[in-house]
Amino acid sequence: NNKIGIGLLGLGTVGTGVANIVKSPDGRHPLVSKIELTRIAVRDIERSRDIELDQSILTDDPFEVVKDPNVQIVVEAIGGIEPAKSLILLAISLGKSVVTANKAVIARHGKEISEAANNAGVYVLIEAAVGGGIPIIEPLKQSLGGNRIRKITGIINGTTNYILSQMAKEDANYQDVLKEAQNLGYAEANPTADVDGHDAADKISILSGLAFGGSIDREGISTKGISTLESIEINYARQLGYEIKLLAIAENLSINATTAIKSIPLGLRVEPTFVPKEHPLSVVNGVNNAILIEGDPIGEVMFYGPGAGAGATASAVVADILNIGGIMLMQKEDKTLDPLLSSNSWRDCFL
Ligand code: NAP
Ligand code: HSE
Repeated sequence: NNKIGIGLLGLGTVGTGVANIVKSPDGRHPLVSKIELTRIAVRDIERSRDIELDQSILTDDPFEVVKDPNVQIVVEAIGGIEPAKSLILLAISLGKSVVTANKAVIARHGKEISEAANNAGVYVLIEAAVGGGIPIIEPLKQSLGGNRIRKITGIINGTTNYILSQMAKEDANYQDVLKEAQNLGYAEANPTADVDGHDAADKISILSGLAFGGSIDREGISTKGISTLESIEINYARQLGYEIKLLAIAENLSINATTAIKSIPLGLRVEPTFVPKEHPLSVVNGVNNAILIEGDPIGEVMFYGPGAGAGATASAVVADILNIGGIMLMQKEDKTLDPLLSSNSWRDCFL
């Protein structure tokens, strides 16, 4: 069979979004129909779920899924540090590529994971880890590669942007709006990571690693959240011509932007910020995210779209699966491929 066997770890918001795309390939890229959900790991097999699946592929042992010889790509959508990190490293040691939406594990252990993947000759793709459905990882890795990046300014947490937008619009109560964001599937299992800014700090750490290179001190990122903000403050800011947004910022602090990449002094922070109404980030509302990148010679480029939720995040996860799956199918057909060109060349092959 020329299907690509997927081992899906987690069938929560993101996992269910992925399964829904895979189950309905019509009208999508032809490669989607070649993806097969071979095994799925959950914590509680007995729980009733909003998706029809062959129950026999469910297990509560994620390690069993990774080891299954019919699983070719592991999709990690469990979240948290452990067992996610061990599962990712096990997959790599077995020569399997991994797709993950887990920014917490990548921000803290990305270096170890990518070194292991390089040594094993497999891929670990993380498009869904930052910005939900917004393509930002691939553009930073590839399309913007000719630039010296000066600054990244992002609204990169959907939960807090949703809360701030609702509080500004309706004078709503913080706790009620947080509950709504949780019900909509935007928040982390522990929403403290969202509201205290740690999720945004994980994400800006990942973007900085891609944009500036070198190793980023994740724990050194100055982080403030929105949990103590009140509607009255948001409304005063509006009267003065500002929106309050939780911004994540990474900037090259060297006076001379040509400083060798390894020694760039970086300013990294996450904090609620007064954004003037004329600024493009001031109109990013609801669950949407936006990432403004300033570089030389490009100038300013902004990426915008839904930053959390099942469909948006699954869109990014499935794109990564297709990239790896396409390469695997081409290798099976003995077509040589330069990995840097992968995202273009495999598509033509199957159209
Ligand atoms: P979630 O809704 O809480 O789902 C987690 C899933 O993992 C559940 O199906 C759970 O099983 C399963 N699980 C947890 N621990 C497990 C274990 N030890 N063994 C087997 N299964 C286990 O989380 P989510 O929102 O989908 O997020 C998943 C990941 O995606 C996280 O890293 C998150 O940061 C990231 N992410 C989320 C979003 C979003 O909008 N939600 C966006 C981008 C990235 P049960 O169903 O049995 O409880
Ligand atoms: N909890 C995260 C957010 C999910 O609200 O942005 C997307 O990474």
